Amino acid sequence: MTEQTKSRAMAFDEPGGPESLRLIERDVPQPAAGQVRIRVRAAGVQPYDAAVVDGWAPPGANTRRPVIPGNEFAGLVDALGAGVTGVAVGDEVLGFGQLGCYAEHLVIPSDQITPKPAAMPWEVAGGFTAGAQTAHIALEMLEIGPDEVLLVHGAAGGVGQIAVQLGRLAGARVLGGARPEHHERLRALGVETFDYTEGFVDRLRALAPNGVDAVLDAVGGDILDATVGLAHDRSRVITLVEHGRAAELGIGVTENRRSAERLSALAALQAAGDIDFRVRETFPLEEAPAALKALRAGGGGKVVLTID
Ligand SMILES: NC(=O)c1ccc[n+]([C@@H]2O[C@H](COP(=O)([O-])OP(=O)(O)OC[C@H]3O[C@@H](n4cnc5c(N)ncnc54)[C@H](OP(=O)(O)O)[C@@H]3O)[C@@H](O)[C@H]2O)c1
Repeated sequence: MTEQTKSRAMAFDEPGGPESLRLIERDVPQPAAGQVRIRVRAAGVQPYDAAVVDGWAPPGANTRRPVIPGNEFAGLVDALGAGVTGVAVGDEVLGFGQLGCYAEHLVIPSDQITPKPAAMPWEVAGGFTAGAQTAHIALEMLEIGPDEVLLVHGAAGGVGQIAVQLGRLAGARVLGGARPEHHERLRALGVETFDYTEGFVDRLRALAPNGVDAVLDAVGGDILDATVGLAHDRSRVITLVEHGRAAELGIGVTENRRSAERLSALAALQAAGDIDFRVRETFPLEEAPAALKALRAGGGGKVVLTID
C-alpha cells in the first residue's frame, strides 16, 4: 500500500464566519519530538471554534494561515515523534489541543491524549474532551459537595450536560436551566429543571427559597446578572462566558487545568455509564460550515464532525 502523502482539512485564510472555511489539501504533517500524529476520526464543534472563525485568536496559539479550527478530537495514533513512549501506532485515543482538529491528520503533544475506552463511540469521544474537562475543572473549583445546591445555566449544552451529572455524582442537588424540550432528558439525569425565559428568577426561588451554594454559568448576559444574588457566596460562582466582567461581579472563571489524567478519569466514567453524553448531530468534515451553523442554532447536546 502506498503511504498517504496528502491530507484534507477545513481552514480559512481570512476569518469571516463559518462560510470562510474551505477544504484544503496539504502535506501530511510530521510529528516533532514529543508529539504524535493522529488520524482524526471525530472532532467536536465548539463555541470556541465559532469565535476562531469569527477572527478571535486563542492566546498562545499558532495562527499561521490557513488556520484550521478545532480543539478536541478522537482518532488513531498513526506516527510517533522522537522520544515518545507509552503509546503505539494504532492506539485509539481522544485528546485536546487549541486548533487544528478539523482535519484528517493532526500533530499534538503526546501528553494531550489518553486511550479511548472501547465502549466509547468515536463521535462521543471526539466531542467529549473539552466540555467534560471544563465541567470537571469548574466543579473542582466550586468545591461542590454532598447535599449542596448547584445551579447550572446552559444545562443541556456541551459543558452543562456533563456539569449537571458531575454535580449529581458529587451528591449535590442540581438545578438546571434549559429549554423545555431538554427538561425530560435532564430530569432523567436527576436534575431539577427550570425554563430560562422571562421570570426565571421567581421559578428558581421557588425551587431554592434559601438560595444556592454554587453556580456554573455557561450562558452569561442577563441570565448571569439576574442570578448572582441567589448565591450565598459569590466566590462560588463561576462563569464560562463573561470573562471580562467576572472581576467586577466578584465571581470566578475557570483555570486551564486540562490534562490527560483528568480526561482519562472522565472518559472512564462515561464508558462505565456514569456520564451520559448526548451527541445531537454529526457532519462530515467538508460540512464544517453547516456544523458551526447548527451549533449556533442551539438545541442541546453536541455537534461533531466525523472523518471516515
Ligand atoms: N466547551 C468548553 O470546553 C468551554 C470552555 C470554556 C468556555 N466555554 C464557553 O461556555 C459556553 C457554553 O459552551 P458549550 O460548549 O456548553 O456550548 P453549547 O453546547 O452551545 O451549549 C450552550 C447551551 O446554552 C443553552 N442556552 C442558551 N441560552 C440560554 C439561556 N439563556 N439559559 C440557559 N441555557 C441557555 C443552549 O441551550 P438551548 O439549546 O436549550 O437554548 C445550549 O444548550 C460558551 O460560551 C463557550 O464559549 C466552553
